[in-house]
Amino acid sequence: MLKGWGEMENSLEEREKELLAKIDPERLPGHVAIIMDGNGRWAKERGLPRSAGHRQGVETVREIVSCSHRLGIKVLTLFAFSTENWKRPAWEVNYLMSLPQQYLKKELPKLVEENVKVNLIGDPSRLPPPVQKAVNQGLEATRNNTGMVLNFALNYGSRMEIVRAVQGLLADIQEGRHKGPVTEEVFSRYLFTAGLPDPDLLIRTSGEYRLSNFLLWQLAYSELWFTRTYWPDFNRCHLLQAVYDYQQRERRFGKI
Ligand code: FPP
Repeated sequence: MLKGWGEMENSLEEREKELLAKIDPERLPGHVAIIMDGNGRWAKERGLPRSAGHRQGVETVREIVSCSHRLGIKVLTLFAFSTENWKRPAWEVNYLMSLPQQYLKKELPKLVEENVKVNLIGDPSRLPPPVQKAVNQGLEATRNNTGMVLNFALNYGSRMEIVRAVQGLLADIQEGRHKGPVTEEVFSRYLFTAGLPDPDLLIRTSGEYRLSNFLLWQLAYSELWFTRTYWPDFNRCHLLQAVYDYQQRERRFGKI
């Protein structure tokens, strides 16, 4: 028999409690990055337009931001729009572009209050001006916050990021702003993620097992966690399960 909403919420709460009791708060992944995938298939399975999947995906973003912040995650990076997503039909691009605005309009006061700092990785110059404005407002309003960094990857592509980093570094070398060896640490300073730690844990939803041009440099030693669950169905218990599983793994960073 199908469970009613109240019953589902109850079992979610029980599961959440169980998982929280098992998670070691001293060994949380500092940086969690998520490829939020499966909105379209979620909608299709319900006979709904793809936009309904994206809309429900925003609800998941709310829940996961709140859970990550309460748990004590330091950086949460969400892949919201890739450099490849421009190839989608215009109506869907426009719809996806409206989501950060919608989200920030509603959530910004809460983010400010909860000491969350909004950050952006990607090239903002191609974003429509209203999106740039909303994002800038988010950045500005949370500039001095010191809690969790909520990092939106918008018009982000890892290869583009790496090529730009090379260009920036070359220019600095040629114009004398950078002297000395080019180390991994130096190179990292030219990436959009400069100043942020690399992700400890990467989550991808919807049963796809690809990186899709996401944080290729930064994910070098991250633990990868995949679920078949579509992003609109992903909830705080999935996140907690991923964190728990992460804590069961042995990270060797190439050592024995
Ligand atoms: C991939 O699913 C998802 C995206 C391209 C967009 C992800 C965006 C959100 C979840 C909302 C972002 C929210 C904020 C606040 C910025 P898909 O459409 O490729 O799904 P499919 O593979 O099933 O077709």
